[in-house]
Amino acid sequence: MIPTTQPGKVRAGITALGAYAPNKILSNHDLEKIMETSDEWIVTRTGIKRRHIADDDEFTSHLAIKSVEDLVKRHGRDSLEGVDMVIVATNTPDALFPATAALVQDHFGLKAGAFDLLAACPGWLYALSIAKAYVESGLCQKVLAIGAEALTKIVDWDDRATAVLFGDGAGGAIIEAVPEPYGLKSVVLGADGSGAQHLHRRSVGRCLPNGEPLAEHLYMNGREVFKFAVRVMNTATIEAVEKAGLHSDDISLFVPHQANLRIIEAARQRLELPPERVVVTVDEYGNNSTASIPLALKHALDSGRIADGDQLLLVSFGAGLTWAASVLTWGGAKT
Ligand code: ACO
Repeated sequence: MIPTTQPGKVRAGITALGAYAPNKILSNHDLEKIMETSDEWIVTRTGIKRRHIADDDEFTSHLAIKSVEDLVKRHGRDSLEGVDMVIVATNTPDALFPATAALVQDHFGLKAGAFDLLAACPGWLYALSIAKAYVESGLCQKVLAIGAEALTKIVDWDDRATAVLFGDGAGGAIIEAVPEPYGLKSVVLGADGSGAQHLHRRSVGRCLPNGEPLAEHLYMNGREVFKFAVRVMNTATIEAVEKAGLHSDDISLFVPHQANLRIIEAARQRLELPPERVVVTVDEYGNNSTASIPLALKHALDSGRIADGDQLLLVSFGAGLTWAASVLTWGGAKT
């Protein structure tokens, strides 16, 4: 666990946010035409109604760039001034190297370092924790932390139990010093690699006869991941709230990883939060992994559900197995 900042020290917070989901939509009814499934099964088990999917020629770097373009549209080009580090959290980088973050750095002409981060779905929260450490230690002035996924490119469309769950998208934020009482108040990070076999990216062939690259698919043992998710969403959120010196009553908005409505609902009940204090976007986007929390934040902002000074509770879980949670006092951007 990363300690909260001592009084008088710099505290990092989010000062700008943008997100993007591809225009192409794949509904449950579309899936009914290509596999043995039903809208009723998918909605009942997961809460998902549709997902946004990248075009054939649209990759993670493109989605990441579009999310930063959205950030610039909302907050102005000045918001990128002084960015000295770009982090892209992703499970689906364009290539193993160079880092997708370097492509983003180049696109916006930033004088910044750049690297990718792999921590599965909580990757964006891991990126926030690194940004916090960089900013609060003085190593960086402004960090651009992005979560971006083209997950549908590695989904196994023959595996109906996983294919219906995932979508694509991206979201990014600027993290820099903010005045009291704003900023990231607590961060909880965890991993348990003994569960690695339950969720991983699997090579399904060494190479195709025509010499095309290796095909890789996402494999998941849904039941095991479900049990793990419910457990860890509870423990990590409670730990993050306590570490921030708060009680769950103080949480203005709960922004969980958007994987499954039943998992979100179990966590909400455990925290004893009313439904209006929870952000749900899984119906629209499915699970887009590292992009899910920044996309959910954008939705909450656009619908006027986040105000200056609100206490936000963010939590995610995923392959590793990994988890992360954070409490953030929203606001503090220079106007
Ligand atoms: N349509 C219709 N039937 C289906 C489908 C489908 N798409 N998928 C599975 N079924 C069938 C199964 O074959 C099974 O049939 P059977 O009883 O005849 O064998 C039945 O439905 C029940 O299958 P279960 O796997 O037991 O269904 P479950 O209630 O566990 O729901 C689900 C499956 C939705 C995947 C659930 O386990 C889950 O949400 N797990 C967590 C997933 C998750 O959160 N992943 C995110 C991880 S992190 C990351 O983002 C990478």
